[in-house]
Amino acid sequence: MSSEKVYRASTTAPVNIAVVKYWGKRDAKLNLPTNSSLSVTLSQDDLRTLTTASCSASFPASEGDSLLLNGSPSDISGARTQACLRELRARRAALEAADPSLPKLSTYPLRLVSENNFPTAAGLASSAAGFAALVRAVANLYELKDTPSELSKIARQGSGSACRSLFGGYVAWRMGDKEDGTDSMADQVAEAAHWPEMRALILVVSAAKKGVSSSSGMQQTVATSGLFQQRITTVVPENMAIMENAIAERDFEKFAEVTMRDSNSFHATCADTYPPIFYMNDVSRAAIRAVEAINEKAGRTVAAYTFDAGPNAVIYYLEKDTEAVVGTFYHALQGADITGWKNESIKELKCGISLDE
Ligand code: DP6
Repeated sequence: MSSEKVYRASTTAPVNIAVVKYWGKRDAKLNLPTNSSLSVTLSQDDLRTLTTASCSASFPASEGDSLLLNGSPSDISGARTQACLRELRARRAALEAADPSLPKLSTYPLRLVSENNFPTAAGLASSAAGFAALVRAVANLYELKDTPSELSKIARQGSGSACRSLFGGYVAWRMGDKEDGTDSMADQVAEAAHWPEMRALILVVSAAKKGVSSSSGMQQTVATSGLFQQRITTVVPENMAIMENAIAERDFEKFAEVTMRDSNSFHATCADTYPPIFYMNDVSRAAIRAVEAINEKAGRTVAAYTFDAGPNAVIYYLEKDTEAVVGTFYHALQGADITGWKNESIKELKCGISLDE
């Protein structure tokens, strides 16, 4: 047994749900998007990944790097994880070269242990929080001085949406235009405290794993959809501008309209993909109709739906309208399972209603 020191760092990263969606890669290797996107970060009390990174000269080199994910060994030989680890090591190696007194952590095997505080079976995107936590844990372990935006460029290579989970609040991923991706990174549009009344309700429509993965779905859309061209050249740039304004002015009506329109536009490009991709199902569409009914009854827009690459709905609303939104969903979807998560700085909201097909 070696008595060599074990270096260790832990961190958490939150889940984010986009209100202007990322869908399409212009470079699959560097994970560069065809459009900018914008998301809201959810509370870490409710949805987060906790990752611990450790390394030591005493870890046998023959074992290499390893990842234990929710208690089970996980394969990290994939190109995306390798790209993240390679970049992090290179940055540490640069620090070590500049200061020879630093321990040579970049040469030691890495052990990563990662846990989600939500059931993987809930069918919620976990890759964003997962890669963001991995990158931040190793960056902390290596004592890197990089800013969150710099780290977001590394997390982006693990999973595009992960770059937005390096920040809380309202976060934009600017697509950039450089070929090497050095300007494709996330920044914070506003802190959670800027609009603390924001709430998110997640309707778990199906816990099943999605049929077509985001990665392959978006590649098929880029290759075959005509509608997609209009989305990336006109629809998204407009939505980004209106959304940033709506957030700055805390204008929920505008925020909600763009959120719903952008989700519709994204799913329309999926339907326009050949062969078509359908992520929403009948329960998803029932949730859309419920939101429309809530808004009609209120005489103003109090709720906004959005759907990622799966049937689960995320409903954004303001705290003052909790009764109208959560109450109506309870009645509209009798016997359904609704779990609510608050926006980052707000108190937890969990409702025990169940929604199953
Ligand atoms: C519909 O980030 O999962 O959730 O970069 O291939 O890992 P990869 O894709 P991923 O795609 C997320 C797509 C989305 C929209 C969004 O989060 O912006």
